[in-house]
Amino acid sequence: MAKPKVLVTRRWPAAVEAQLSETFDAVLNTGDKPLSEAELRDAMKSYDAVLPTVTDTVSAKAFDVANPQARILANYGVGYSHIDMHGAAGHGMTVTNTPDVLSECTADIAMTLLLMVARRAGEGERELRAGEWTGWRPTHLVGTKVSGKTLGIVGFGRIGQEMARRAHHGFGMKIVVQNRSRVSPDILARYNATQVGNLEELMPQCDFVSLHCPGGAANRHLINTRMLNLMKPDAFLINTARGEVIDELALSRALWFETIGGAALDVFDGEPRINPDLLDCDNLVMLPHLGSATREAREAMGFRVLDNLNDFFAGREPRDRVM
Ligand code: 8YV
Repeated sequence: MAKPKVLVTRRWPAAVEAQLSETFDAVLNTGDKPLSEAELRDAMKSYDAVLPTVTDTVSAKAFDVANPQARILANYGVGYSHIDMHGAAGHGMTVTNTPDVLSECTADIAMTLLLMVARRAGEGERELRAGEWTGWRPTHLVGTKVSGKTLGIVGFGRIGQEMARRAHHGFGMKIVVQNRSRVSPDILARYNATQVGNLEELMPQCDFVSLHCPGGAANRHLINTRMLNLMKPDAFLINTARGEVIDELALSRALWFETIGGAALDVFDGEPRINPDLLDCDNLVMLPHLGSATREAREAMGFRVLDNLNDFFAGREPRDRVM
């Protein structure tokens, strides 16, 4: 029987690419150039499986194909708001993602950002590299103590819980949670966490707010001027979820006028383009979407995609089926 034809849209870790090539009739993207919308649409016509990442906007137009050959979109990453699920449903396609294997590393980056913004690490590094450091002094780049403070976690899935573990057990932080559904008492008890009913309740209580909810239309601009105004004037906002969750214009104003203490972002609306208003804010730390960027996580994500494909083509239910 012919091997299924599989398109990998970006470079993946070498060990995973090797395994994909062995198992499937795989076409790799050796140039690592993101695919255009037209190329994605063509891929739907000529491959059995398309393996997209967050850089592939698989919009309704990509599904505008009469009889697609593709039966599965096996996404490399846990978030899949870049895939138009109605389009996939319209053709009866299966969609899978890669949960679990990147939760710890993504929470590590969220904690890194939290510490960096609280302790002004970005400002310090910029100053030093610019040759502007004049030496130690008692009032130099004085930041905010993290230990014992209150952390609000928006979205208490796997990554949110890993963040709670680090913050509570590592830094003695008090954890307040906002989540779409009710979190079971035994999960909350692991972090001595309290669940609140909505964001209006969460924002004013927290010294730090970390976003771990999905992106997409439902959560677009969840953090807007009104929510930012509810934050304490010295509180910090951390985002490792998706850029669109924050209204970046509202955030840049809050940072510029210092109505909040600062922010730290790993993801951006329309990334890799960065809203120029953000670039001028000193009380902002920015990383280029590094959440899952460890060798361990990136390989595990790839092998998780392989598992999903193997199950799918063997007629079994893929463990990470989201549609
Ligand atoms: C991934 C992420 O690396 O998994 C996710 O949802 O945000 C990232 O950490 C990226 O999405 C790869 O597609």
